[in-house]
Amino acid sequence: MKSVELKSGGKMPLLGLGTWKSEGEALAAAILRALECGYRHIDCAPIYGNEQQIGRALGDALSAVKVSREDLWLTSKLWNACHRPGDVLPACMKTLNDLKVDYLDLYLIHWPLAFKPGIEYPASTNDILRKSELPIGETWGAMEKLVEMGLVKNIGVSNFNISNLQELLFTAKIGPAVNQVECHPYLQQADLLRFCRSSGIHVTAYSPLGSSDRPDSLKSKDEKSLLECEQIQKIAEKHGVSPAVVLIAWHISEERSVIPKSTSAERIKENFQASSLQLDSEDLGDIRTVTHQQRCVSPKDWFAEGSPYREEDIWSNQKEAMAV
Ligand code: A2P
Repeated sequence: MKSVELKSGGKMPLLGLGTWKSEGEALAAAILRALECGYRHIDCAPIYGNEQQIGRALGDALSAVKVSREDLWLTSKLWNACHRPGDVLPACMKTLNDLKVDYLDLYLIHWPLAFKPGIEYPASTNDILRKSELPIGETWGAMEKLVEMGLVKNIGVSNFNISNLQELLFTAKIGPAVNQVECHPYLQQADLLRFCRSSGIHVTAYSPLGSSDRPDSLKSKDEKSLLECEQIQKIAEKHGVSPAVVLIAWHISEERSVIPKSTSAERIKENFQASSLQLDSEDLGDIRTVTHQQRCVSPKDWFAEGSPYREEDIWSNQKEAMAV
């Protein structure tokens, strides 16, 4: 299994199992199946509502496949309701208790925006704090303390654009090791990837298969399927693999980690083939020619009228990219 050495020293397996939208018996079976296939990286978050289930499944699965905790990479994330410095340690402890582990390999700030205290999910845009009400550096300081306490080995962020990263880098004692963002051929993120590379920030790609099982509220009417992308299908045919395997292998070939979600035993195994498929320069060039643009995850209600954030505040890299 290929891995990457983060600037903080951690050795992170490039292929991980995504767990957003996984639940119940199927989730427990998926964890066991993934470990049996050779996955050694699981991506979690409390907002997925399944960390307790993962914790219950994980202990049994690790003993069944005779893999020790040290050989597994566990990522989780700090939810937007817990950005106040005093809320960071309790949130991390809750995740550790739910996952039944005593440390995380990687802990990420899930989003660069925070909700008002006590608000798990905003009922209206009034529940969203302005940047100035809770500067991200304060949350990051509490994340750094978790490293000092030995509760998390590496810290990073998710859904941060270039200006959010720049703001964080300005005050951070420990720079973010990872930025986990949506990335696939319909959202190639060239400017953001370039900035992260030049700043030593490793990128993890989420929604690599287009997350077709996500809620309808995150979908638009005229979406295109990534699995049916012409260039991807051509490359899949050339290598005798499925389009999903090509979509996953693209990240690994470019040294990004990637966290496809599946609860199907067959597809978990199929997706693992991507760890041994190296795409060639012709394939990589073909993927760069994909022009269709599509974002899977952008909670529109956070950017509705009255919100302190516009959608482009979160996603735009244009102005900053020119300065890179
Ligand atoms: P399932 O869990 O039934 O396998 P993403 O990782 O981008 O969020 O995408 C997850 C979606 O992709 C889920 O609907 C998942 O379904 C599906 N999926 C996972 N692996 C494959 C595969 N190899 N081929 C087709 N669909 C897949």
